[in-house]
Amino acid sequence: MKRFPENFLWGGAVSAHQCEGAWQEGGKGISIADVMTAGTRLSPRRITEGIVEGERYPNHEGIDFYHTFEEDLALLGELGLKCFRTSIAWTRIFPRGDEEEPNEEGLRFYDRLFDACRKYGMEPVVTLSHFETPYALVKEYGGWRNRKLIGFFERYARVVMERYGTKVKYWMTFNEINHCKPDSRLGMWLAGALRCEKGEEAQACAQAVHNMFVAGARAVRIGRTLGKEIRTGCMIGYIPYYPATCDPKDVAAAEARGREDYFFLDVMTKGVYPYYKTKQYEKAGIVLETQERDWEDLREGTVDYIGFSYYMSNVYGADESRMTVSSGGIIKTMKNPYLKETLWGWAIDPEGLRIALNRLYDRYGLPLMVVENGYGAYDKREPDGSILDEDRIAYFRAHIEAMGEAVSEDGVALMGYTPWGCIDLVSASTGEMEKRYGFIYVDLDNQGNGTGKRFRKKSFGWYQKVIETNGEIV
Ligand code: BG6
Repeated sequence: MKRFPENFLWGGAVSAHQCEGAWQEGGKGISIADVMTAGTRLSPRRITEGIVEGERYPNHEGIDFYHTFEEDLALLGELGLKCFRTSIAWTRIFPRGDEEEPNEEGLRFYDRLFDACRKYGMEPVVTLSHFETPYALVKEYGGWRNRKLIGFFERYARVVMERYGTKVKYWMTFNEINHCKPDSRLGMWLAGALRCEKGEEAQACAQAVHNMFVAGARAVRIGRTLGKEIRTGCMIGYIPYYPATCDPKDVAAAEARGREDYFFLDVMTKGVYPYYKTKQYEKAGIVLETQERDWEDLREGTVDYIGFSYYMSNVYGADESRMTVSSGGIIKTMKNPYLKETLWGWAIDPEGLRIALNRLYDRYGLPLMVVENGYGAYDKREPDGSILDEDRIAYFRAHIEAMGEAVSEDGVALMGYTPWGCIDLVSASTGEMEKRYGFIYVDLDNQGNGTGKRFRKKSFGWYQKVIETNGEIV
């Protein structure tokens, strides 16, 4: 039996802020990603008050995709991608976020980009907001906790979805919206929600998330007016949690931890707040500022599909003191003795992807798309210029096999698979350029030095074959 359906969307994924660079070109405004300094595997990125002279901001240059996209997409077309996931930098369209009229030059850029995708045989899959909230909206309005952002986002979403309605069929609202949690300052920042006093995080975060839910639902509703073939999904960073032991206390702790993420999907797929979150807010004295229309938006704007990133599984237990923090300070976990990890402490768990697919399909019954997955590593260029990324191939092979089992053995409805950073780009959590994911190597280092030239890694030829055989040969 074939593993994957004929129309399976094999692809690759990037985001605007991690690859475009050109942070001040074409009328672009400053986004929250533009005030994040470079970090390393061992020292976190910092968020500065505006642009500070002397600091290094790797997203300002990215991989210069703004200027090289035509050649890069040609290479990705050669790789055989059927779809290409990227985001629109909100600040190219509305530089501050609160303007009445969009920036035509920014709109023209994405016209050219999406046309090039199609020219090279790739369906664009577009995230509306991938950690790219305009900085002015965070600084002057307090970020997503301010309800005004709903209207600003709706205007932005309407402009781009209507403009690209005939070029883009697959949309996603907020990238990894579930990282917006009060115990993660980086997560809240990436969501554009952080502008509050210490101690106010829980209330601010709850309000920010609510406002994002409403804004996302409005984007889904806009999508519905544009034609039957338009699909608007949500996107979460999904991590299956395993209990530390079979002690029921650990099991309960892992389940409760899992619900912190399901909460986001529950609202975005069902249009109502789940009982456990309502209770949690009530106990914590959190009161949401809402309007009558919000509930209609949430109900009518439930998503068409679930996009999610999958990199790792985590372990959770009742004893908080045994947790360590990984992934740039976003994720709390315990070591899993059965699994190997990447250098960044991310547990490599292909079986976990099958578990994830089954859990999500079982719980929501909506089509799924794995919109990120991949192996971040320091790659080495051999003297002859080749890059023999065998570990990456092994990682993908195992994950694609697990995905194939979820589809052909278990019956999960999976639309596509877009490995992360199909071309090397700036890491979101650490700001490193040398944490690489790509099938295509970009000759730049953490300091931004290098020729910027592109090279096909060994995984390039391997993935090309996978796509050619629709996942039969991995
Ligand atoms: C996801 C994000 O969290 O993981 C991407 O959506 C990010 O933006 C990716 O780049 C990998 O994480 P990192 O920190 O290795 O870049």
